[in-house]
Amino acid sequence: MKKLIGPFTQILTLAGLGLKGALSDDDLQIISQGGVLVENGLILAVDDFEALRKANPSTTIEEITGDHVLLPGFVDCHTHICFAGSRAKDYAMRIQGKTYLEIAKAGGGIWDSVTQTRAADEDLLERLLLQRIERHLAEGVTTIEIKSGYGLETASELKQLRAIAKASTQTKASLVSTCLAAHMVPKDFSGGQSEYLNYVFHDLLPVIKNENLSNRVDIFIEESAFDAKNALTYLNRAKQMDFDITVHADQFTTGGSAVAVKSGAVSADHLEASRDVEIKLLANSDTVAVVLPGASLGLGMQYAPARKLLDAGACLAIASDWNPGSAPMGDLLMQAAVISTAEKLNTAEVFASLTFRAAKALRLNDRGILAPGMRADMQAYPTNDYKEILYHQGKLKPLIIY
Ligand code: NIG
Ligand code: FE
Repeated sequence: MKKLIGPFTQILTLAGLGLKGALSDDDLQIISQGGVLVENGLILAVDDFEALRKANPSTTIEEITGDHVLLPGFVDCHTHICFAGSRAKDYAMRIQGKTYLEIAKAGGGIWDSVTQTRAADEDLLERLLLQRIERHLAEGVTTIEIKSGYGLETASELKQLRAIAKASTQTKASLVSTCLAAHMVPKDFSGGQSEYLNYVFHDLLPVIKNENLSNRVDIFIEESAFDAKNALTYLNRAKQMDFDITVHADQFTTGGSAVAVKSGAVSADHLEASRDVEIKLLANSDTVAVVLPGASLGLGMQYAPARKLLDAGACLAIASDWNPGSAPMGDLLMQAAVISTAEKLNTAEVFASLTFRAAKALRLNDRGILAPGMRADMQAYPTNDYKEILYHQGKLKPLIIY
């Protein structure tokens, strides 16, 4: 059934902005006193509210009272929110100045979340996941990518991916799952990197394909996880199975982004350590550069060079990396506002990186812009000026509108 929603004080459509490179706030399309005509979850028209009302006299009206600024729902293209337990112990040690190695030795790190997630059953995982999904949705995130990677053996990775699949039937948020079985070589695996990746390739990826649990494969390329050579072999094999590729790249040391570009990855994520050479490589590719300010905040590290990436011509997305270890906060809008002050990203660049550019990292071209034919996943902030949204650094909460 057709429905006319509005009036909105401003509609920020995000239409007409480029997919790559720097943007200007002058190019933001703003419709004052606007309305959106929707049918079956899709946008039919975005225009002046009164004009739409006159043109559609018998249409149901969902009236919005008071000042509101409408935006497309945010797309968080990188999270690890399917986990059990807590890593508060790691955080306490980190802020005491303990090193990564000292924390791992004390039983912390990714392996601690693997142990806690393996011990949880699928129902518990689904419940915990849904709580985090609903919180994200209430904060304007209508599309959420969710990785496995805390199972690290076939049954537990499948348990995570099945919990994500079940959760997606219980929420209005749109979920995209990714297999991150290549998060680290599990401590209880007898063999090295290549043996483990072989095992994942033979034992796990075919089941994921058969059960249609995910069409994306991720790997953590880092000294503590997988090296570039093993990663490239694994990713090429996954690609031959028709998986989309994404990479945890250049978080502490470089090397990952080159593998991402070489393997035609849809995105290279983290990039805190990327230098000019990696920036150029990403800018000249189709791989989306995903920066994760939540991990910089959680670890007390420098931000990824978002400004330089945009100026070089890259497609930049901002994601939360919400996970129990390095990025426990998960407040995407707050994190985007904070990196925008540090890196000098303007409003158009920030909103593009949270919407249609982040959707590109998930190969979704049906969302992130308010225009006819696009999904009607929307959020409205209680203000009369779009500039208030980043200014309040995540404290202004939206109304979710479908
Ligand atoms: O993206 N960098 C690797 N993986 C996660 C951290 C996961 C964890 O610490 O549990 C990340 O930051
Ligand atoms: Fe991550």
